[in-house]
Amino acid sequence: MATRKIIEQGDGSLTKVCRPVTSFDQRLHELIDDMRETLEQANGYGLAAPQVGILRRVCLAMGPDGKVIELVNPEILETSGQQEGYEGCLSVPGMYGWVKRPSWAKVRAQDRDGKVFEVEGVGMTARCFCHEIDHLDGHLFTELVIGGLYTEAELDAAQAESQRKKGKGRKGKS
Ligand code: NI
Repeated sequence: MATRKIIEQGDGSLTKVCRPVTSFDQRLHELIDDMRETLEQANGYGLAAPQVGILRRVCLAMGPDGKVIELVNPEILETSGQQEGYEGCLSVPGMYGWVKRPSWAKVRAQDRDGKVFEVEGVGMTARCFCHEIDHLDGHLFTELVIGGLYTEAELDAAQAESQRKKGKGRKGKS
């Protein structure tokens, strides 16, 4: 296993529609293993193959049990509800924006050996499924942001200000 370089916004690989995986071979397994290591080192919630320059429909997302789940040729079957919150991306380092997503999503995908499965999730898992599968179609969360992008320091300052106004004192980051 090895870590791979995470491509940042501005690189053309991030705006392409990725091709389906057709060979569930050693090469795919190496890609997924490398992506797992890259994600772990970057301390993120998910990673899509185009973020490491591979234009194939493969991504990792935080599953319903909090563990990383491998999704090959994933498709969203169904969504419901709505959640709003700050979202970031390893390809847009240090920047966050307010994004609306479904609160529940059901996905059909294949595992690294080609076996089809379905998985569903709420909250962060639903958000992560949508964010990562968007990457496979060349879309970044920045396209969905309401009200602009902020640095972590700006978000902290805004949070402190809103807490001060409410007279509750500063709240820690969750
Ligand atoms: Ni991302």
